[in-house]
Parts: sequence; structure tokens; C-alpha cells
Amino acid sequence: MAVDLLLGLQWGDEGKGKIVDVLTANYDIIARFQGGPNAGHTLEFDGIKHVLRTIPSGIFHKKSINVIGNGVVIDPVVFVQELEGLDQFNIDYKSKLIISRKAHIILPTHRLLDAASEASKGKAKIGSTLKGIGPTYMDKTGRNGIRIGDLELDNWQEKYRNLANKHEAMISFYNVDVQYNLQEMEAEFFAAVKKLKQLQFIDSEEYLNQALKDGKTILAEGAQGSLLDIDFGTYPFVTSSNTTASGACTGLGVAPNKINEVYGIFKAYTTRVGSGPFPTELFNETGAEMAKIGREFGAVTGRPRRCGWLDLVALKYACQVNGVTQLMMMKGDVLSGFDKLNVCTAYNYKGETITHLPYNIEPENITPIYTSLPCWSADLTKMTNASEFPKELNDYIDFLEKELEIPIKIVSVGPDRTQTIHR
Ligand code: IMP
Repeated sequence: MAVDLLLGLQWGDEGKGKIVDVLTANYDIIARFQGGPNAGHTLEFDGIKHVLRTIPSGIFHKKSINVIGNGVVIDPVVFVQELEGLDQFNIDYKSKLIISRKAHIILPTHRLLDAASEASKGKAKIGSTLKGIGPTYMDKTGRNGIRIGDLELDNWQEKYRNLANKHEAMISFYNVDVQYNLQEMEAEFFAAVKKLKQLQFIDSEEYLNQALKDGKTILAEGAQGSLLDIDFGTYPFVTSSNTTASGACTGLGVAPNKINEVYGIFKAYTTRVGSGPFPTELFNETGAEMAKIGREFGAVTGRPRRCGWLDLVALKYACQVNGVTQLMMMKGDVLSGFDKLNVCTAYNYKGETITHLPYNIEPENITPIYTSLPCWSADLTKMTNASEFPKELNDYIDFLEKELEIPIKIVSVGPDRTQTIHR
């Protein structure tokens, strides 16, 4: 048995939560492998909308076990709020949700450091969600972090104090105005840790490898998107983890030869929240229409998302880095009725036509080269079968499949679980 991966191929917000929820019925275990509460995975069914932050998107299915892997960073305060939001659904967390002892903990002072770091950057700020992600991963790689397994040790609060004191000194070093009441934040944090400790902490790499030996199926759920990857994304405007396929191996402890399918999710257009280059961004009425119809506001921060045409140069790059085997196209319904559709198939890079993503994609170096395709006018949201697709949509899909050389297996035509068409 093997592990399948599900990854976002753009700058996040592709609709991973919805697809994990749709696919969960096929898997015994859903496992998150990186990121933290900077993610907002949105699921809609039975007329209710749910936004999950750290908890895997399989939590609503009776059968599946949900694992938070060692590569994830957990903020106990946000986590407990997330659990409370799910209380009405009678989910048995103690048996359905398990956490790696090796996952790192986001401390209140990590959030403050995030705020201080962003404030100190002025115009060059990353546009972070300010959830403490960067500082927590810095402590992880700097070998200073506190892990979930530490909560089982007697002296963890001593370790906490030392690290929090160091963080306070670092905050003052930034010399920016960050107002906080650490005592209040800590009271909330320690109360949340107490609740968190009621859940199962495990050696998740052992658990997952044993599950594979027992013939169980695992879906690894990515967060953010490939262009936010710490190594392969649009650095420094990225998040602090490996959002690409390799992150699933290091974030769960499963070997590369256990990976089977790699599902890549992309929107039929492109969005980005936060700062950083975005070659196909639209600053006109068309971009505003995409944002309005697509309800493009961040699930975590509520910030408006920047919108633009589909960028095939960037998408090909993401497919290559991840080894995508199947594609899923989201939000095709949003484009219904546009005059025409532009797809970026190459860049003019300093006067030269190129078809790969170069080191520097700042706007002064790049002009997108577009191919125009006719758009469909039909409302896709009520369609239930690919045979109902208008010709222009089929042409759009064929064009993308030919360019990317990977089949598009799912087309999503609305936010609800039921608005998912298999091809
Ligand atoms: P951080 O990971 O919160 O520090 O944010 C770093 C960058 O990644 C910012 O541009 C964020 O807007 C972006 N980002 C982080 N998480 C998400 C996500 O789940 N969806 C989309 N963008 C994200």
C-alpha cells in the first residue's frame, strides 16, 4: 500500500480542503505534513461552511484517522479554538485525531516575533499571516524549538521560560512598536496546552509506516502552495516550510518509494494573497470581477486576494518539482461569461522568450506572453457530469492537458462537496 499526496500548485488557496474532503472516503488516514494555522482549508457540505487550520480535512468522515505530522507547527491556542468549533459535530477527537510528538509548538512570543519582524521590514514585508510560522520554523532549524513530545516531560515549562525570555529580548532588538501583554497571552496558552494534552501524542512516523505495512491507505494533505515553498517558491515572499512533494517525506517520515499518486490542484486562474511577484496579475476590471465572483478573500486573514490569468509557465514548474501525476482544476465556474481567457504560455524575460520560471520574476524583468482562448458562457455550477461541459470549457481543458502533459481528472464547479466532476 502507498501514500498519495495532494498539493496546491500555485500560491495556496487552490481548494485543497474541498478535494481532500471529497477524496477522504478512499483513504484510511489523512495526514497533514507541513505548515500550521496560516492555512485555512475550506469545506462545504450540507449547507455549512467549515474552515480548518491545523486539523486535517478528513475529520468530518467517520472512518478516517487524522494525523498531524512532525512537519506541522501547532499553536495550542488556535488548535483548541478549532476543536471547539467542531464540538457541535460530535467528533471523537481522542480516537480520530493524533499528533506527532515531533511537531513543533508555536509559542505566544513566536507570534509577537512575526509581528515585530514584519513591522521592521516596512514596504518589503512578506505579508505574513502573522501566526508565528516563520519564527517557529526558525527555532526548529536553529535547534531551539519546543516539541509536542516535550509537553510530556516534567521540565518543559523551564524550557519554555528560557525560550520566551530570549524571544522578548529579540522583540526589543527589532525596535518597533509591538504592544502586548505576555501574561494574558501565556494564561491563554497554558490553558490551551492543558486541553491539547488530552489528545493522543504518538511517534507518527512509526504509526504511519506500520499502517502501510498493514495495508492501510494514506492521503498526505499539503497546505499553502508550491510557489510558497521555502526552497522553490518566490523567495523571500514564501512561507517557511517545504510545501512541495518532498515535504511530505520529511514531514511524515515516509520514504519517497512509498509515494504513489501526486494530485496537483490548481485554480482555472491564479490568485495570491500577501506580497511578492505575480507575473499574470490583473489590475483591471477583469481581475476585480474574478475576485468578486470567486469570493477571493483569505480564509484566515480575510485579506482580498490578488487575481490574474492562469500562468502555465509557473504551473509547469510546480508540476515538475512535485512529480504531479493527476491534475484537479478548481473554480472553472468563476470564469463563465468572461469575454475571452488568456493563458500565459511563455515570458518575455529581459527581451528573450523563455518557457521556464527564472530566478528573478520581479515585474521589471518579466512580461507574460499570452495565448487567448474563447470562454464559455454557460453556468457550470449545476452540472453533474463532464458530458454537459460546453465546448469552450473542453477546449480549455484540452489545451491545458496538452501543455502540461498531465490529465485533468477532476473539475470543480462550485464550493460544495457535490459540485465535483470526475473525468
Ligand atoms: P506565513 O506563512 O504566515 O508567514 O506567510 C508567508 C506568505 O505565505 C504570505 O504571503 C502569506 O499570505 C502566504 N500564505 C501563508 N499561508 C497561506 C495559505 O494558506 N494560503 C495562501 N497564502 C498563504
